[in-house]
Amino acid sequence: MAMTEAEVSGNKMKVKKVKFIITRQDEPESKSYIEEFELDYRPGMNVISALMEIQRNPVNGKGQTTAPVCWESNCLEEVCGACSMVINGKPRQACAALVDQLEQPIRLEPMRTFPVVRDLMIDRTRMFNALKKVKAWIPIDGTYDLGPGPRMAEKKRQWAYELSKCMTCGVCLEACPNVNEKTNFMGPAAISQVRLFNAHPTGEMNAEERLDALMEDGGIEGCGNSQNCVVACPKGIPLTTSIAEMNKATTKHMFKRWLGV
Ligand code: FES
Repeated sequence: MAMTEAEVSGNKMKVKKVKFIITRQDEPESKSYIEEFELDYRPGMNVISALMEIQRNPVNGKGQTTAPVCWESNCLEEVCGACSMVINGKPRQACAALVDQLEQPIRLEPMRTFPVVRDLMIDRTRMFNALKKVKAWIPIDGTYDLGPGPRMAEKKRQWAYELSKCMTCGVCLEACPNVNEKTNFMGPAAISQVRLFNAHPTGEMNAEERLDALMEDGGIEGCGNSQNCVVACPKGIPLTTSIAEMNKATTKHMFKRWLGV
């Protein structure tokens, strides 16, 4: 970690510094540029707390006051997925990225699979549109209380819980070479959610509609089996297993439609 000397009460003492190299972009269509920042080290600091410090005192490495860096965050405990960005070349959550565990200088970039809104803030609308397309929800009649709903066997519940940890963070799309400007592949997250909701006792009523959506343009056929997604997923969701299972399910569904059964 970088060390600089500072005068404190006439005595010289070493102050640890943390250097950040941040890719910035003022507007969605403007050119990106690099700006460096140097902060005093504090034990236990993570990337979000460092960004908050820059926001409080937006002075860059040249000592110039600059616009505060923009980013998005919410839960601060790796649950909402909002703070996803590329940290030292790897897409991940900034709130879970501890400075002590990162190589210096720390490089922060936006996830370029998504349109950049400003600096590190991206627009994940394509992910939410994919969830809408595959109907990734359990439809209920909200006009009256339906009671607790059907129970799931404990083993199945535990299995479903693993898939339900998806936070739509976008890391699997950023890691996937098949999600790019030349394709409209929806990415692994939505496909895995089809597996989850089709296995639900109530959700399975809409299983065929979800499989139909997966068979459309931008659906499951966009997967090139690079398997980067399963390695990148911060929640350890078995994404490639989900894709393989949904591949089987869509093939079966297609034959059933041909045969009219
Ligand atoms: S702020 Fe929610 S995952 Fe980081």
